[in-house]
Amino acid sequence: MSKNYGYFDDAKREYIITDPMTPTKWTNYVGTIDFGGIVDNTGGALLCAGDPSLNRINKYIPQQLDTDFKGATLYLRVKHSNGYSLYSPFFTPCLTPLDSYACHVGLSYQRIVSECAGLKIEATIFVPTESKVEVRDITVTNQSNQPLEVDLIPVVEYSHFEALKQFTNADWVPQTMMSEAINDTPDTLTLLQYPFMRRDGLVNFLTSDRPVDSFESDRKNFLGVTGTWAAPQALTLDSLSNYEARRGDNIGSLLIKLGSITPQQSKRTIVLTGQASRDTYAELIHQFRDHNAVDAAFAGQAKYWDDYLSSYQCETPDANFDAMINVHNPRQCQTTFNWSRYLSLYQLGLGARGLGFRDSSQDSMGVLASIPAKAKELQKKLLSIQKPDGSAMHQFYPATMEANEGDSREEGEKLTYGDDHLWIILAVTAYIRETGDYDYLNESITFYDKNLPLDQREAAPVIDHLERGLHYTKHNCGKHGIPLLGFADWNDTVNLPGDAESFMVASLYGAALLEVIELFDYLGNEAKVAQYQADHADMKKVFNDQGWDGEWYRRYYTADGAPIGSKSNSHGKIYTNGQSWPVIAGFAGEERAQIALDAVEENLNTKFGIKLSTPGYDGYDPNLGGVSTYPPGAKENGGIFLHSNPWIMIANTMVGNGDRAYKYFCQINPAARNKDLDTYEVEPYCFAQNVLGDEHPQFGLGRNSWLSGTSSWTYQAATQYILGVKPSHHGLQIQPCIPRDWKGFTVRRSFRGANYAIKITNQNSSDQTVSHLTVNGEIIPGNTIPIAQPGTQNTIEVTLGAACPEHAVA
Ligand code: NOJ
Repeated sequence: MSKNYGYFDDAKREYIITDPMTPTKWTNYVGTIDFGGIVDNTGGALLCAGDPSLNRINKYIPQQLDTDFKGATLYLRVKHSNGYSLYSPFFTPCLTPLDSYACHVGLSYQRIVSECAGLKIEATIFVPTESKVEVRDITVTNQSNQPLEVDLIPVVEYSHFEALKQFTNADWVPQTMMSEAINDTPDTLTLLQYPFMRRDGLVNFLTSDRPVDSFESDRKNFLGVTGTWAAPQALTLDSLSNYEARRGDNIGSLLIKLGSITPQQSKRTIVLTGQASRDTYAELIHQFRDHNAVDAAFAGQAKYWDDYLSSYQCETPDANFDAMINVHNPRQCQTTFNWSRYLSLYQLGLGARGLGFRDSSQDSMGVLASIPAKAKELQKKLLSIQKPDGSAMHQFYPATMEANEGDSREEGEKLTYGDDHLWIILAVTAYIRETGDYDYLNESITFYDKNLPLDQREAAPVIDHLERGLHYTKHNCGKHGIPLLGFADWNDTVNLPGDAESFMVASLYGAALLEVIELFDYLGNEAKVAQYQADHADMKKVFNDQGWDGEWYRRYYTADGAPIGSKSNSHGKIYTNGQSWPVIAGFAGEERAQIALDAVEENLNTKFGIKLSTPGYDGYDPNLGGVSTYPPGAKENGGIFLHSNPWIMIANTMVGNGDRAYKYFCQINPAARNKDLDTYEVEPYCFAQNVLGDEHPQFGLGRNSWLSGTSSWTYQAATQYILGVKPSHHGLQIQPCIPRDWKGFTVRRSFRGANYAIKITNQNSSDQTVSHLTVNGEIIPGNTIPIAQPGTQNTIEVTLGAACPEHAVA
């Protein structure tokens, strides 16, 4: 029986952690990549501005002990006749037991409420929208029956702005780090911090709205020679040393004396950590020292989330499904959209990767209903790192827009991934279906060439970018006629030498062709429709001739023509993506689709999710590459790689198996693991990337939470395929595929500026085709709600199942 670590509060849209010693750190995100980062359940923070590797603020080292100090904290001390008692209201680093502790994981805020020494401390941590400052809004209430003299000591530990240098050079970095105290008003003090080269540029700051008794900026001075973060020697003294560091391990710490707090009295303190230029920091600080401005910023953020989430809300017979789809899943989609795979407790943002081409393309698809303009902005950046031949650079750094070839650089021979450029076709067409912004197709965007300045790069309309992507794949096929793998495809870790071929790239190409055919059909371009239909038919034939293994589809051919993902293999016999994508691509006929999806259920499904392949490779094999660096059952080597699960859900809805699609959703729903956290270990309020599979002794252990394509695709699978409310060029298409025992559900959806309240009744469990659809009382033939006037409220009634006489379509 697992320990209990917390619970969901659906009304407040929070998860509440009730034990500070969670099995791993559990994190939340504040702000955006422009300014923001991670805040953990014990108040540690990793903030950056614009780029985690090129402009980092805190030194947060995830690999350090979870009981230790990470990036930021708050001490509280109570004065006695003979000295002070020291506490950590966030539990770490003092680790003194608290009388109570609750960490409210909210929508872009973390609120830690604790009790100790007769005091209640409430700290709300957030980043006001579009501001480069983290606010810690702290209220201390005396719950005892005697006055208490209380000090607050917020602390930040700084990183060099170039995150990796912090760890690779232990002379140059400390020689440059500097702190400077500014008495910006007679009553307040701001502690600035910067590496010398930024003295006249961007500076970090730590300050408060309250007078500061004293400060410390050097770690050794703060801790003392034998001190630790749990018991800093400086905190045994009445005041800090007021030392302005001119080198070394820079911290910021402020001693804020709240004075005597009488019984039942509360005192509120604002602590600000941020970054600004020398000319502007004072203004920013001035703004958020004002409590009303902090309240307004917090309310503004809540309003942002109300608006964001209101684009899709559902009510189904399953409250856990609703909590995930109405709050936590779209929230995670916004997070992956912001951070790609750049900064998490697992993806450390130290320079190896920026925003990924394939990842960000998929992430943009998870936010389309809520923030389409932002999605378009990101897509345009991605299109600008597509190469003129139609393939794409693998990743880019947002601060400089410099792109590179990702891990393929290590191998050096094949610098292209077979799949990257195809994801952007799915993303752009999904954006257009959502918004009707057909002008986007004509916007001119440059192709990437790092040797040319921007104004000399070739530019072409977006539609050209998409067509060049299709062209690239069509003309880069191997000897079986299947597209070349390149360095890797979606599965980064299968790195086959030479001209290996990938059935997943073939399927992605098929799915992208379907989207482009639909688009040209809508635009009335018959020639293009015919051209791409022919390409689709050609690949479909080759795919089925070369890919069918008898009981499922194959996944790759090596350069020598040996199949991988075949019954003839001893390991890696069957791959999940090998079965879902042929269905999504329209390549698998009805019979093969059923057989392939049954094979997934029989060979790959576990109670914690579907494995990526089986059996796992048992030993390092340079001819397979990264996949064989993991033991069997871990990550891409037979682990439950959750990103691939929603594709199987989608494929099952396409063959009409709603029971299975829903079962697959439930078994990876992190909320379902809330009772099993000693096994699962990671946050129950967001999807993880991977769970150890059943070949591993720690079957069921999750890792790499938050930043995973699982989020965008599970959201799409649930909202567009299980609940079946899908944007199309002609309107909102209604095609649910739900569990047979659901009698119905409702969805509130905004689409192209109009609102739709949709009530779906399932009157016949086995046939879920739409038999009756009314829009504002008027019967509409087919299953697509026509596009309504922006600003209108529309009531939609849908009946599924063979029509009974009174529901018959007119
Ligand atoms: C994580 C990477 O970010 C993603 O791009 C890739 O598709 C998966 N791993 C699978 O290898």
